Amino acid sequence: MSFRRNSRTDHLLAVVDQALNLDNLNAAVARANPAQTLTSPEPTAHDRRLVAGLMRINHTGEVCAQALYLGQAAVAESADTRAHLLQSAREEHDHLVWCDARLREIDARPSLLNPLWFAGSYLIGAGAALFGDRVSLGFVVETERQVEAHLDDHLGRLPLADARSRAILETMQREEVEHGQHALNRGAIALASPVRTLMGACADVMRFVAYRI
Ligand SMILES: [Fe+2]
Ligand SMILES: [Fe+2]
Repeated sequence: MSFRRNSRTDHLLAVVDQALNLDNLNAAVARANPAQTLTSPEPTAHDRRLVAGLMRINHTGEVCAQALYLGQAAVAESADTRAHLLQSAREEHDHLVWCDARLREIDARPSLLNPLWFAGSYLIGAGAALFGDRVSLGFVVETERQVEAHLDDHLGRLPLADARSRAILETMQREEVEHGQHALNRGAIALASPVRTLMGACADVMRFVAYRI
C-alpha cells in the first residue's frame, strides 16, 4: 500500500516537473529529428509568421497529447493499457522536441500558455480514464483521428519550400495513425457523437489561441 502511494506521489512529482520544464526539453532522449538531413531556405517574413503559427499549434498539440496520455496512464486499469499509453506519451515527447527545434530554427517561441494546456489536458485525460480502459482507448482513437486531420490541413498550408517542417509533420502524422490503430487493436470503443464534437471544439480553441499566444 505504501509502495503504491509512493509510486503515485513519484508519478505526480514527475508530471509537475514535466509541466514546469516544457521549455527545457530533454532532446538527448528523443529519437532522431526527421528533418536532420534536409535543408530549407530562410523563410520570407510572411512565411516565417505562418510557419511559426502552425508549428506553435503543433508544439502545443504535442504538449496536450503527452499530458492527456500521462493522465490516462495514471488512472488506467490494466498494466497493458498503461504501458501502451506511456509508450505513446514518449513518442509525443519526441514530436514535441522536433516541433520545438523547428520553432527555434526560425526564431519563434512556443505558446506562453503551455503549462496551462498541460495541466488541463492531464486532468481531462485522467477524467476520461475513470470511465474504464476501453473508453479511455476510444479517447485515444478520437484524439489521434482529429490530430491526423489537422496535420493534413497544416501540410497543405506549409510553404512548399519548407522541407524541414514538412518532414517533421509527416513523421508525426504517420505515428499518430499508429497510436490510434494500436488503441483500436486493444479494444477501444467509439465515443458518443457529442463527446467527439466537444473534443473538436476544445481543439479549435487550442489552435486559435496557440497560433497567437
Ligand atoms: Fe504527436
Ligand atoms: Fe499520437
